[in-house]
Amino acid sequence: MVRAALISLGSTSSKWTQEAMKKYFDEVDVLSLKDMEVSFSGDTSEVLHMSEKISRYDCIFAKGSFRYAQLLGSMSAILERGCYMPLRSTSFSIGHDKLLTQLALHQADVPMPTTTIVSTVQAAKKLLEKLHFPIILKFPHGTGGKGVIYADSILVAKGILDALSALRQPFIIQEFIDTGGRDVRAFVIGDRVIAAYQRVASGKDIRANIHSGGSGEQIELDSSTKKLCVRAAQAVGADIAGVDLLMSHRGPLFLEVNLSPGLQGITATTGIDVADEIGRYLYQQTVERKAKIDKKNAQEIMKELESEQESVEQEIITGLEFRGNKVLLPEIITRLTKFNESADYKFTTSKEYLEIKRFDIQ
Ligand SMILES: Nc1ncnc2c1ncn2[C@@H]1O[C@H](COP(=O)(O)OP(=O)(O)O)[C@@H](O)[C@H]1O
Ligand SMILES: [Mg+2]
Repeated sequence: MVRAALISLGSTSSKWTQEAMKKYFDEVDVLSLKDMEVSFSGDTSEVLHMSEKISRYDCIFAKGSFRYAQLLGSMSAILERGCYMPLRSTSFSIGHDKLLTQLALHQADVPMPTTTIVSTVQAAKKLLEKLHFPIILKFPHGTGGKGVIYADSILVAKGILDALSALRQPFIIQEFIDTGGRDVRAFVIGDRVIAAYQRVASGKDIRANIHSGGSGEQIELDSSTKKLCVRAAQAVGADIAGVDLLMSHRGPLFLEVNLSPGLQGITATTGIDVADEIGRYLYQQTVERKAKIDKKNAQEIMKELESEQESVEQEIITGLEFRGNKVLLPEIITRLTKFNESADYKFTTSKEYLEIKRFDIQ
């Protein structure tokens, strides 16, 4: 019996995922992220759904928007010890923050546009003097293209910075990569890009997000770009992710790793059943994890049995294997007695009787 839970905000993409998971797992529970609660003290911790402790699952796919990053992170930190989770607990704080994502990508040697953070608006304005325009100003927590602002001159950028400072809105400054309003969304599952498509911004918009009016087109990625996509997802700690990148003349430049990527756009454009790929992968990983644990448990039980047997006297009835006039001891006896070539042994014999003892042990 392999049981799974999907914890999400219940979007259409989550419903598709839930249906796909049901095809593979014996049982799938669907829990709303909004009904989850995590509590912990010195030595106990619990994850509750509608104030009740959740059941035991073999796999939990927990996802949601950046507003729930803390809840998702703490919930996963507790649950991931006991089941397979495709998103690591640490992935939520990184993946839901564009600055931390760029930093993680940088540390994993994934190419990206030059990204800068400064402490104050004054410092940002000073920096503007040195930059080539246009530039991009970005909210660390924006999604769907909503937190991405294009500034084509220093004057415009200064005006935007004043507005951001009045709103106390943190921002990052990024080099603008001209791709004619196109970006690429690659869907990574495990160590593969299972689908990818190109999004084209509508009109003069530079943001290619479908939510910002972009439209999808087919694209084939080369193998080195695919490898970088997988590395980007892994840098954030995600087995399932939507990776955004720009195809520049310098090669692919990576923007972000979405932990709760939409399925509609990519499924419609590529014709690939992404939800089914997710369901199948989750099931495979869960079964593999279970098998590993079962094997480990079996090995531990064997070890325990052997050490129990060591201290107890055993009677073993067996034939004797002769090599000429010499006798070989059966393997079970050498295993249990721990006899070895480097020690000396004392033999006590009489007719039809033999006792062997290590010489240094009385
Ligand atoms: N540095 C950049 N240069 C050019 N276009 C960019 C840049 N950053 C973002 N964009 C455009 O804006 C879109 C949204 O940016 P992204 O960082 O993915 O944030 P979001 O979470 O809002 O999708 C991108 O898909 C791309 O089309
Ligand atoms: Mg994006």
